[in-house]
Amino acid sequence: MKIPLNIWLFLLMKKSYKKEIMKGKILVTGGTGYIGSHTVVELQNSGYEVLIIDNLSNSGADIVDNIEKITGIRPEFEKLDCLDYEGLERFFQKHEDIKAIIHFAASKAVGESVEKPLLYYRNNLVSLINLLELMPKYHIEGIVFSSSCTVYGQPDQLPVTEQAPIKKAESPYGNTKQINEEIIQDTVKSGAPIKSILLRYFNPIGAHPSAHIGELPIGVPQNLVPYITQTAMGIREKLSVFGDDYNTPDGSAIRDFINVVDLAKAHVVSIDRMLSNKQKEQVEVFNIGTGKGLSVLELITAFEKATGVKLNYEITNRRAGDIEQVWADPEYANKELGWKAETSIEDTLRSAWNWQKKLREKGIQ
Ligand code: WQD
Repeated sequence: MKIPLNIWLFLLMKKSYKKEIMKGKILVTGGTGYIGSHTVVELQNSGYEVLIIDNLSNSGADIVDNIEKITGIRPEFEKLDCLDYEGLERFFQKHEDIKAIIHFAASKAVGESVEKPLLYYRNNLVSLINLLELMPKYHIEGIVFSSSCTVYGQPDQLPVTEQAPIKKAESPYGNTKQINEEIIQDTVKSGAPIKSILLRYFNPIGAHPSAHIGELPIGVPQNLVPYITQTAMGIREKLSVFGDDYNTPDGSAIRDFINVVDLAKAHVVSIDRMLSNKQKEQVEVFNIGTGKGLSVLELITAFEKATGVKLNYEITNRRAGDIEQVWADPEYANKELGWKAETSIEDTLRSAWNWQKKLREKGIQ
């Protein structure tokens, strides 16, 4: 089919214009995952050109279509496992102008990590080591790492700051986050031409307001909010509240539940900071939370209020490995990154419910 010259010129200009406005190329590993996909959207909204690699062990390639539905820009995607050193090298040879990496790709189920520790140590540690080894060779200057508040264990003081002591991990999953942070610190200390920002997430929840992307656990959800929305949808008969005998006001455990889009935006400001050489140290650490603790029972009440859906739940025994209470002191991130969690818990829970209803509409769940 012949394309009329004026259309052809327009398309050419659009492509070159797009290249011009781009703030640079960012690789997102695990970019079809829950937090990764929301971060890709916010990076594109902020003018970055995004590449995704993902081994699709915990997500589908259709997420790329859904990202495009939101932003109108289709990120380049390649199915690739970060354990595949040669595959990664070929990828970097093909894309020589990547400015930075945001590394999400990892196994993340606390319970599974207890049953399969070697899978977690190999996957989560070797994937990062491969990236760190290849970055200098391909002049990739920085890596933003997806860490977790699990590194603090049960903090002695609350809210928890970045200076709180790192405690012995409660699970191999949590331990891989601690070890990965040390791997990055030691690599940078060795003189490698790499800088890094470690983001310690609290509890990411919710979905994109468009309901095109959200959390899509495979099998029975381990995390609280997807279990709540599946119970509300009738997929699960009832929610088990793991313990109401904690030393908290209503006896249930307390967490810092942060909206996933707010969390995604923290990655964009981290990349901006890194690429504009505003980092004050080669490795910086930030707590990415709201600064507010909410108990499991309070979250259930907030969900019922926000959605008008009554939730069927029962109190059961505590879950092994759970800590009693944790919430962030996000002041350092607020001040240094100029980032703050803004979305209300009600809006966040409504977004999770809208996402669950969309999955039902599409016959996915
Ligand atoms: C939250 C609270 C449960 C399910 C973990 C990881 C963290 C991050 C998020 C990966 C706890 C209670 C849960 C249920 C319940 N991981 N709960 N009934 O354990 O705080 O954090 O997941 O990104 O790094 O450590 O999150 O959502 O599993 O639990 O009562 O069916 O909800 O006991 O108090 P958690 P969670």
